Amino acid sequence: MAFQQTILITGGAGFIGSHLVRLMVNSHPDYHIVNLDKLTYAGNLENLKDIEGRPNYTFVKGDITNEAQMQQLFAAFQFDGVIHLAAESHVDRSISNPMSFIETNIVGTVVLLNAARYHWKDTTGKRFYHISTDEVYGSLGDTGFFTEETAYDPRSPYSASKASSDHLVRAYYHTYGLPVALSNCSNNYGPYQFPEKLIPLMINNIRHNKPLPVYGDGLYTRDWLWVEDHAAAIDLIYHKGRVGETYNIGGNNEWKNIDLVHQLCDIMDGLLGRQAGVSRSLISFVKDRPGHDRRYAIDASKIRRELGWEPSIRAAEGLRRTAEWYLENTEWLERVTSGAYQQYYEHQYGEG
Ligand code: NAD
Ligand code: DAU
Repeated sequence: MAFQQTILITGGAGFIGSHLVRLMVNSHPDYHIVNLDKLTYAGNLENLKDIEGRPNYTFVKGDITNEAQMQQLFAAFQFDGVIHLAAESHVDRSISNPMSFIETNIVGTVVLLNAARYHWKDTTGKRFYHISTDEVYGSLGDTGFFTEETAYDPRSPYSASKASSDHLVRAYYHTYGLPVALSNCSNNYGPYQFPEKLIPLMINNIRHNKPLPVYGDGLYTRDWLWVEDHAAAIDLIYHKGRVGETYNIGGNNEWKNIDLVHQLCDIMDGLLGRQAGVSRSLISFVKDRPGHDRRYAIDASKIRRELGWEPSIRAAEGLRRTAEWYLENTEWLERVTSGAYQQYYEHQYGEG
């Protein structure tokens, strides 16, 4: 079959990437979707079992920092577009091991930019779309929102590496005319999220009656977005976003961490048939994350206004769906938390 477009999605076996790959393979049967992923601890082909073998889907195991491999990949597939999600994504890991974040998030992005630049002699209809985070903007006080004009002020090695990659993507637009687009999104949640992140970590610990480690005073605020709403926004920006532009994506759904954990505890008590309050009693305030950003909040009016995007559900509903998914997929959870996860957990939280 002759495809209308061939699109490279990097990091498609990760949390957000797997939702995006599934969405694009299902909703664009006339596109060839090539998922390139290194399959680090965060990448898992089990996340994509339902679309394995589809005629418009190809998985390639590879590393975005490997220049020769990326050049070969671009030569072999002649991509029309790139949607770049591959990254080291966990802030706590960036604090203990910054170098892997520099390598993947900065060097890896430049390797891809170079491959696109080299292979796209004619850039008509091409698009290099870089997926980024609201963390590049730094930390807010009690009021205000991040807009696309907010000055960058990253505070963690993770956010500094993402900020750096954003700047490089924009530099390739201004310097070489590479047709780029960017988006900066708030905290995603939903099925297939690796249980190092707040929500699945809490769900997993509640299941096992383990302490629920809330950093610092628990009054840090995040804006939560259902992962499928992020995937839909990415699909929309890829097709309709203006070249050279940045779009902020957020759920308008702010929660203080402690309130979110309380809500999850109550949902889990209900789903597990436990007495009300049992899971809340597991909460344990622990040492704070160094350089912990106090509050993130996104002004998503540009993507609403220009592209008509809206989040489909709010966190109260999304948290319930997420908790139900993890309880229905305990085998997935058991597999990803065996082995190396135990060492990570011990190192991060000081217990097995
Ligand atoms: P994730 O950690 O779940 O997945 C990252 C994926 O990238 C994994 O499949 C991993 O195997 C792959 N990968 C890592 N290094 C690679 C390399 N060198 N070569 C090829 N593949 C590699 O991350 P996520 O939460 O799905 O985030 C995806 C992207 O979205 C990241 O760029 C992240 O910065 C951004 N983002 C995430 C959130 C969030 O809340 N999770 C919010 C905004 C933006
Ligand atoms: O804002 C977008 C970002 O959201 C993405 O760019 C990152 O890739 C993603 O990991 C996420 O970063 P956060 O640091 O906000 O997410 P995390 O789930 O690690 O933490 C959410 C909040 O919960 C944060 O304030 C720290 C706190 N926390 C986290 C963990 C893992 C705890 O209190 N206890 C914990 O054990």
